Amino acid sequence: MNSEDLNAILRRIVEGNQTDSDIAALRDVLIFNGNQYIVQLGSGNINIGQGRDIKIENNTFNLPEAELIRKFLEKLTTIPHNLAKVRSGAVKFVGRDQDLESLHQQLQDKERIAITAVVTGMAGVGKTELAIQYALGQKQQFTYPGGICWIQVEESNVGVQLLRFAQSQLNLNPPDNWELRERLDYCWSRWQPSGDVLIILDNVRNYEEIQYYLPPLEQRFKVLITTRKLWLAESFEQLRLEVLEEDTALELLASFIGEYRLKAELETSKNLCNWLGKLPLGLELVGRFLKRRPNWTLARMMERLEQQRLESKPLQKISPESPKGVVEALELSWKELDELGKKIGSLLSLFALAPVKWELVMQCQPNEDEEEWEEARDEQLVNLSLIKETEGKTYQLHQLVRQYLRDKLELLPEAQTLKQSF
Ligand SMILES: Nc1ncnc2c1ncn2[C@@H]1O[C@H](COP(=O)(O)OP(=O)(O)OP(=O)(O)O)[C@@H](O)[C@H]1O
Ligand SMILES: [Mg+2]
Repeated sequence: MNSEDLNAILRRIVEGNQTDSDIAALRDVLIFNGNQYIVQLGSGNINIGQGRDIKIENNTFNLPEAELIRKFLEKLTTIPHNLAKVRSGAVKFVGRDQDLESLHQQLQDKERIAITAVVTGMAGVGKTELAIQYALGQKQQFTYPGGICWIQVEESNVGVQLLRFAQSQLNLNPPDNWELRERLDYCWSRWQPSGDVLIILDNVRNYEEIQYYLPPLEQRFKVLITTRKLWLAESFEQLRLEVLEEDTALELLASFIGEYRLKAELETSKNLCNWLGKLPLGLELVGRFLKRRPNWTLARMMERLEQQRLESKPLQKISPESPKGVVEALELSWKELDELGKKIGSLLSLFALAPVKWELVMQCQPNEDEEEWEEARDEQLVNLSLIKETEGKTYQLHQLVRQYLRDKLELLPEAQTLKQSF
């Protein structure tokens, strides 16, 4: 769009003759920042500020017209959403440009009828944070004029939360005496404003808890799911989130402790990032801990972690703002394992950190039923993102997961026999 086009569109708005393509074109170039509307044009940005004329090139919209235009933009950019309740722990969001890009592409895929994108990955890798950043960014860009609805799946029933959103944000009030499903159908079919809608289901543990509440198969309803489960549902597009790269891991650490402190002990910083397996959760916890202790050197931190490992205070939740501790996060997955899953996980923790060939694992346990073991490995450990298949039948444990499983091993009744078998 150039300034001539913009002038023409704004003129039509003033006259009440704007078309759908005018609106779509405006949405593409409009940003809402603080309380200013900014239009991005090839020749530069135009700020449509408050209470003054709007001048674009040689054309001026005087005050009554300018007010009318601002009112229109306001309506155009008011998106129903409940993102205020979403808390981001990030002081600075690092990396993930590529992931945000692929996520957006998946959700905007024009060829599929029903779009559901799933972000999977291990505990604390940043699935929720990615979804938050995506939602906030797209809110600014007006990609989802039909609204952005954030559902915290573990909080309460998904259907009830959706209904509450429809009531409070869209003013839809289906009769109370209808069944939940019928009330939801009522809302889906009357969903306004028009245009794409983004529904985010954060932290889904199993398909059953969402399946009855998914929107109808229409292109405008896009669903974004975050889950630790690798195989939540086969028909969904997946985006697997990995740990950070070294430079972004350092950047995350620096966002808490400052460039200066990081650079003063650069080598130790790198070791620290590696010790934490470049996991955002671990990096953030350690960063917050160090921030509260300006006199600690990173070397002292490293020493503390090596001595006390996952039990050390820096890896626990230390303040109301901080995310849950590493052990607490992993515990949620551990609890979903059965006896055999726990046993396999613990056995794997005895191997070195490098990828482990499955045949070596089975060699430790020659009398066990291999098929049963493989099933437990895939259905439980791999599916819960506790271990990762790197190449054919080779498995990799994350540094912190290995540490965690090592500690769990000590508590298993068969700890001694497992160690001997190894
Ligand atoms: N790219 C990032 N930049 C900055 N901070 C991040 C980033 N990714 C994650 N974090 C921070 O790391 C912590 C853990 O991330 P998050 O809660 O998103 O993990 P998760 O994958 O959703 O974990 P879980 O499986 O337990 O739900 C959060 O406090 C988050 O703010
Ligand atoms: Mg999460």
